[in-house]
Amino acid sequence: QLQCGEVLLEITQIGKECHTHCAIYQRVGDCIMPREGVFARVLRGGTIRVGDDMQCIARTQPFAFQAAVITLSDAGAAGTRKDKSGPMIAQRLRESGYTVIEQLLLPDGRERLEHELVRLCDQRQPDLILTTGGTGFSQRDVTPEATLAVADRQVPGIAEAMRAASMQITKRAMLSRAVSVIRGRTLIINLPGSPKACMETMDVFMDTIPHGLGLLRGTVHDCARA
Ligand code: MTE
Repeated sequence: QLQCGEVLLEITQIGKECHTHCAIYQRVGDCIMPREGVFARVLRGGTIRVGDDMQCIARTQPFAFQAAVITLSDAGAAGTRKDKSGPMIAQRLRESGYTVIEQLLLPDGRERLEHELVRLCDQRQPDLILTTGGTGFSQRDVTPEATLAVADRQVPGIAEAMRAASMQITKRAMLSRAVSVIRGRTLIINLPGSPKACMETMDVFMDTIPHGLGLLRGTVHDCARA
């Protein structure tokens, strides 16, 4: 947190990918935004003037992880079926202390999903993205393929644990092709489509992922003590 007079800011992001090089880059051949662009949430507003002192102060509240939720559903996106899973996931994340920065409802299919995953991971950089739907066998179920296409690293253990635990509830759990991966500093986990399946699969990993998210963010270093 940064304090300047009555103003209190909380840094949320340092650096932002410059995909289509900006006017500054075109003109001088470089742009500091990806390295030094600083983004902050205003916790207490006021006026800041050139020359004011700014102090870096310790965080007063525990760091809230940021999350995004993406529902994949042709019927949901067309407005012929109400999306229950996305809001339910977002609600549970909030109850668990996460800040939900975006909730999207997309038609099934790879292109839009890949685009949104890349945009979120590279620009908004949430700690976690949960997708719901599109993990089954129908021709339009391609959520795992889109997720793998944007992945830097795979995290098979989470999807394996979800399927293993869900098999105790329904043998149809083996039909979900969900994957879990990392892109940049963001963990992406596919959940099945039904609201019930979403809650059952979140039961499996919600207690465990904060340690992994801390390692990804670089705020946790010591696995032996955790
Ligand atoms: N996992 C849990 N825990 N509970 C469930 O009810 N449903 C399964 C499976 N995983 C289910 C589950 C079913 S019936 C299917 S077809 C697959 O998830 C894929 O669902 P999706 O295509 O909606 O992603």
